[in-house]
Amino acid sequence: MKESPQIRIVIGSDHAGFSLKESLKHHLEKDGLSLLDVGTFNEDSVDYPDFAEKVARAICSGEGNLGIVLCGTGIGVSIAANKIKGIRAAVVYNDETASLARRHNNANVICFGGREASAEQAHAWTRIFLDATFEGGRHQRRIDKISALESPGTSGKS
Ligand code: RB5
Repeated sequence: MKESPQIRIVIGSDHAGFSLKESLKHHLEKDGLSLLDVGTFNEDSVDYPDFAEKVARAICSGEGNLGIVLCGTGIGVSIAANKIKGIRAAVVYNDETASLARRHNNANVICFGGREASAEQAHAWTRIFLDATFEGGRHQRRIDKISALESPGTSGKS
């Protein structure tokens, strides 16, 4: 397992992702990774966009360089996080998506479904993501096009 010494993880969830967040944190802390938990801190019902936003803004401000957000499916938090400029949030649901989210999409936020994945799966997929390397080249060109979508009118093709 390759080590990821400069990785600073910001993690957050809604109530439906809370239990998985706690278990995943435990696994990642055992791996020696440092985590900033932005909540939620219990299973009381909350709104997932609030926690997706907290994680996304912490990544944009440099407090962390990998965000992990969890809701029931991973879908709601990914939709919300992707509204923040500079965020590339990917729902990860198997080994292949864990690897490609890094190698092709250079995701800076990964999303899990607390009602869809076990702690062991989410841990394994996080490790696969961390151990993969962004491939650049044509994938960088595609990411540049995604970035251009965030600033309409600046590409000359409004
Ligand atoms: C909350 O019940 C649930 O809707 C939320 O966690 C998430 O799955 C939304 O995408």
